[in-house]
Amino acid sequence: MAKVGIVVGSLRKEAFSKKIAENIAELFPDGYETEFVEIGNLPLYNQDYDEDSPQEYVTFRDKVRGMDAILFVTPEYNRSVPGVLKNAIDIGSRPYGESVWDSKPAAVVSQSISNLSGFGANHHLRQSLTFLNMPVVQQPEVYLANSQDLLDESGKFNNEGTVEFLKSFIDTFVELIKKYQ
Ligand SMILES: Cc1cc2nc3c(=O)[nH]c(=O)nc-3n(C[C@H](O)[C@H](O)[C@H](O)COP(=O)(O)O)c2cc1C
Repeated sequence: MAKVGIVVGSLRKEAFSKKIAENIAELFPDGYETEFVEIGNLPLYNQDYDEDSPQEYVTFRDKVRGMDAILFVTPEYNRSVPGVLKNAIDIGSRPYGESVWDSKPAAVVSQSISNLSGFGANHHLRQSLTFLNMPVVQQPEVYLANSQDLLDESGKFNNEGTVEFLKSFIDTFVELIKKYQ
């Protein structure tokens, strides 16, 4: 059983990112287990903590270390990655030489309530993942625009086209994960 950690870049209770991530989690085939990785409880990264890390850092790093792959689903804040997500990435990357992200296959989904679809966040995130040595699904890229129109009242995708597209994205992600197992 391969384990895929899902990291959501929004802490909002009704976050579209979380709802979209829940829909996408259902598209993994048999043999893949998904688990959301909590990032909202992490104290702001401070390099002084590399010596003696808060328990939240230790738990988070252990959780990510135990995953075979990571799916990021994020909104865009001010044309970039939300601070809470960047904080989690930085915490996982340290102490130097002990990054829990290293070599883990990853996939990126960005979304926004406008037509922009989180392109800036998507690519700023990819920039960090490149440095962190995470092989990332290149194609298809996933930029979801007008998120509020993609979901029905129960939070499920309301159109087959989006589901089919994301299924092909997850199939590609699974092929990437297999290469690294
Ligand atoms: C601080 C902040 C900055 C934002 N900046 C952008 C932006 O640069 N581009 C964009 O398309 N949407 C931007 N938005 C709108 C978000 O796309 C929208 O709030 C989205 O629903 C957030 O995702 P969530 O539902 O997962 O919380 C911003 C929202 C906030 C709160």
